[in-house]
Amino acid sequence: QYNFEDLSGLVSLAWVGDGTGILLALTTFQVPLRWITFGQSKLYRSEDYGKTFSDITHLINNTFIRTEFGIAIGPENSGKVILTGDVSGGSLGGRIFRSLDFGKHFIRTDLPFHPLTQISYHPKNFSILLALSIKNTLWLSSNFGETWTNLHDFVCLVKWGHGDMIYFTTHTNKTCSLDRGQLELRKTTDFGKTFETIGSKIYSFGIGGRFLFASVMTGKVRTRRFHLYTVFKKKKKTFEQFPPPGTSQAYSLLKGDADVGRAGSKKNLDTGFGTIYTSDDRGVVYSKSLERHLYTTTGGETDFTNVTSLRGVYITSVLSEDESVQSVISFDQGGEWKPLRKPDNAVCDSTAKNKDECSLHIHASYSIAQKVNVPMLPLSEPNAIGLIIAHGSVGDAISIMKPDVYVSDDGGYSWMKVLAGPHHYAILDSGGLIVAVEHSQLPISVIKYSTDEGQCWYSYKFTSEPVYFTGLASEPGAKSMNVSIWGYKKGLLALYWISITIDFEELLTRDCQDEDYTKWLAHSSDLNDPSDGCILGYKEQYRRLRKAAVCRNGRGYIVVKQPSVCICTLADFLCDFGYYRPENQSECIEQLDLKGHDLEFCLHGKQELLLTSGYRKIPGDKCEGGAMPSRTVKDMRTKCTSNPMEPSQLSKNSSSNSALIIVAVVLLLVIATIGGVLFIKKYVCGGRFLVHRYSVLQQHADANGIDIADELDATLSSRGKSNYHDDSDEDLLE
Ligand SMILES: *[C@@H]1O[C@H](CO)[C@@H](O)[C@H](O)[C@H]1NC(C)=O
Ligand SMILES: *[C@@H]1O[C@H](CO)[C@@H](O)[C@H](O)[C@H]1NC(C)=O
Ligand SMILES: *[C@@H]1O[C@H](CO)[C@@H](O)[C@H](O)[C@H]1NC(C)=O
Ligand SMILES: *[C@@H]1O[C@H](CO)[C@@H](O)[C@H](O)[C@H]1NC(C)=O
Ligand SMILES: *[C@@H]1O[C@H](CO)[C@@H](O)[C@H](O)[C@H]1NC(C)=O
Ligand SMILES: *[C@@H]1O[C@H](CO)[C@@H](O)[C@H](O)[C@H]1NC(C)=O
Repeated sequence: QYNFEDLSGLVSLAWVGDGTGILLALTTFQVPLRWITFGQSKLYRSEDYGKTFSDITHLINNTFIRTEFGIAIGPENSGKVILTGDVSGGSLGGRIFRSLDFGKHFIRTDLPFHPLTQISYHPKNFSILLALSIKNTLWLSSNFGETWTNLHDFVCLVKWGHGDMIYFTTHTNKTCSLDRGQLELRKTTDFGKTFETIGSKIYSFGIGGRFLFASVMTGKVRTRRFHLYTVFKKKKKTFEQFPPPGTSQAYSLLKGDADVGRAGSKKNLDTGFGTIYTSDDRGVVYSKSLERHLYTTTGGETDFTNVTSLRGVYITSVLSEDESVQSVISFDQGGEWKPLRKPDNAVCDSTAKNKDECSLHIHASYSIAQKVNVPMLPLSEPNAIGLIIAHGSVGDAISIMKPDVYVSDDGGYSWMKVLAGPHHYAILDSGGLIVAVEHSQLPISVIKYSTDEGQCWYSYKFTSEPVYFTGLASEPGAKSMNVSIWGYKKGLLALYWISITIDFEELLTRDCQDEDYTKWLAHSSDLNDPSDGCILGYKEQYRRLRKAAVCRNGRGYIVVKQPSVCICTLADFLCDFGYYRPENQSECIEQLDLKGHDLEFCLHGKQELLLTSGYRKIPGDKCEGGAMPSRTVKDMRTKCTSNPMEPSQLSKNSSSNSALIIVAVVLLLVIATIGGVLFIKKYVCGGRFLVHRYSVLQQHADANGIDIADELDATLSSRGKSNYHDDSDEDLLE
C-alpha cells in the first residue's frame, strides 16, 4: 500500500516502456477562474509496478502540468517522456520538460510558442515532434524538442500519416473557429520543404489505414459530402468519392482495418442509426454490412467493438424497428451479423417476450454515453486468445437495469454470466488471470480473481481499512501479474490518494509446463466438417492454457498458432458486378437485365472490360483449390475523362451527368433488347463507383492498428437536403 500525501483531485498514470515497471503518476489540483486557471500538480515515479513511488516534482521545478496536456510518452517503448508546463503568466512562450531516460532526469526547454494541444510524436521516430500553438501555427522539431521551426501558419488540425507524411487543414482567412467548411487539406512529405494541397472546402478529416477520409462542403446549401481518398498508392489521384448512393448527410467513421474503409452514415441526425459499409481492398467498391447501426445523436458514440482476442470478430448494436437497442456480433469481419447467444446460466429478463428464447446484449460506449451504470467497456487482449469480458443483460433488447458481467472464452460464440452487478475488471498474465473489483459508492476491501477464464472466482481481502475505489491499473499488454487498486481515504479535512498493489506471483508460483496447454481451433463449430474453423480462407489452431491449470504464463509468453489454408468454397467469393445472391443461397445469379452483356467500367481513369462468371474472391481471402470461378479484367487502353477530385465540379455537374448516363443506358438497353445487341456500357467515372447491393462483403484485415479522427462524426450537421442524386449505377444493377 502506498499513501500519497496529496490532496489533488485528479490522478493520471502513464507506463513508460514495456516490462520496465516504471510508472509516472501526475496529480493535479485545478481551480478554473474566469480568466486564468490556477493549479498545482505533483509528479511521482515508481520503478516497481506501482508498489512504491517517489515524489519527483522538484525535477520539473514544481511547474504546473495541466491534466489536459498530461504525460506524452514516446513511441516504441523508447522511454522518452515530455511534460508540457503551464507558464501562461507573462512569458514569451511555453515550456516543456523532456526526459530521455524513462523519467529519471528532465531537461527544461523554453518554446518559442504556447502549445494548444499535447505535443505529438512521429509514430516511429521519437526525435520528430509536432506541436500546434494557441495562435494556430504548426511547429516541428527534429531533435526531440530542443529546437523548433515554424512549419505553417493558420493550421486547424494536424495528423501524422503514413511514413513521414503530415496532413493538416488550414484556413486562408486566418481563423479556425468560423466557417469550418472552408478549410484546405494539405500535406507535406518532407517536413515542410514542399506542400501539396489535396482538397478544398474541407470540414474535417481522418486517417484510417490506407485511407484518408475527408468531409467536403459542396453546393450552395451547405450540405456536406464525404470523400474517401485512397492514399499510400504509388499512383497519384486514386481518389474515390464516398459514400454509395442514397447519400445521407452526416457520416461518422469507425475504427477500421487497414484495408477496410468502414464508415457509418446517418440518414437523419435525430434517428441515431446509420449503416456500416465495408470496402474492397482498393476502397472503390462498397457493400452494406449492417443497417440500423446505432449512434448517439449527441456525441456520435457507437458500440462498435473490435474483439482483439480473435480474428474477425466485431460486436456492435443496432436500433431495431421498435426503437429498442440490440447487440449483434460478426465472426467474419462484418460479412454476417447475428444476435449473441444467450448464456446457459442466465435467465431472460423482462424485455423478453419468450422466457426461454432471448439473447445477450452488451453494454459499450453507447450505454456509457447514456449514463447507464457501466464502469468499463468490453475488454479483450490480443494475447488472451478467445477471451472477452463485458457488461450486459439478457433479453430481447438491452436493459438499463443493473448490468452484470459476462465472459466468453471462445471469441463470442458462447457466453457465461460470471459476476452480478457492475465491476471493474482487468486481464493479467496473458489471460491466465482475471481480476475484478465491484463498482460501488461504498468503500470496498475485496478483490475477486479467477484463474480459469471466469468459471470460478475467489475473493481476497486486500485491506483492513476499506477504501473508496476509483479504478484498477495494470501495465498495458496484459502480461503483468501486478495490479494496482487506486482509491482514496477520507482524512480529517480532506481526501488522500491510496494505491494498493497486488503481486499475483505470490499466488501463482508455478510456471506453466507443456502439459498445462491444449490445442484449440478458433471459430470451430463442427469438428467433422472439413471447413470447420475457416474464416476468410484459413483457420488457426492455437495453443491455449487448460482451464484447470493453476500456473503462470509469465512475461515471456507468446501466442502460438498454426494457420492452415482452407479449400475454396462459394462462401469465399463475392458476387461480381451484375450478379447477386438470392436470400439464403450461395450461388450468384446474373441479373436479368444484364444477362450476356459485357461490363465495362472505369477505374482510376482507365476504362476496363470485365469478363466474369459472377464471382470475385473476397479481398484478403487466402483459400486455395476447390471452386475457382474465372474472372479477368481487360485494360481497354482508353482513358476516362472526368476528374473525381474536384468537389466543385462534382456538385455542379454530377446530377446532370448521372441523368445523362441513366438516359443513355436506358436507350442502350432498349436497343439491345430490340436488336439483340449484347452490349452495355457502364461508366463509373466522375468519382462515382459501383455499389453492389446484393453482395455480402467480407473483408481482409492486416494487423495494423489505426486511428481515425473522432473529429468527423457527430458534429457534422447540415441544413437542407442534398440536391445531389448519383445512384445511376445502382439503379442499373437492380
Ligand atoms: C525554478 O523556478 C524558479 C522560480 O519559478 C526560477 O527562479 C528558477 O530559475 C527555476 N530553476 C530552473 C532550474 O528552472
Ligand atoms: C529520426 O529522425 C532524426 C531526425 O530527422 C534522424 O536523425 C534519425 O536518424 C531518425 N531515426 C530513425 C530511427 O529513423
Ligand atoms: C475570407 O473573408 C472574406 C471577407 O472577410 C470573404 O469575402 C471571403 O469569402 C472569405 N474566404 C473564405 C475562404 O472564407
Ligand atoms: C511485479 O512487480 C515486481 C516488482 O515489484 C516485478 O519484479 C515483477 O516482474 C512484476 N511481475 C510481472 C509479471 O510483471
Ligand atoms: C432464409 O432463412 C431464414 C432463416 O433460416 C428464414 O427465416 C427466411 O425466411 C429465409 N428466406 C427465404 C427467402 O427463404
Ligand atoms: C482489430 O484488432 C486486431 C488485433 O489487434 C487488429 O489486427 C485489427 O486491425 C483490428 N480491426 C479493427 C477493425 O479495428
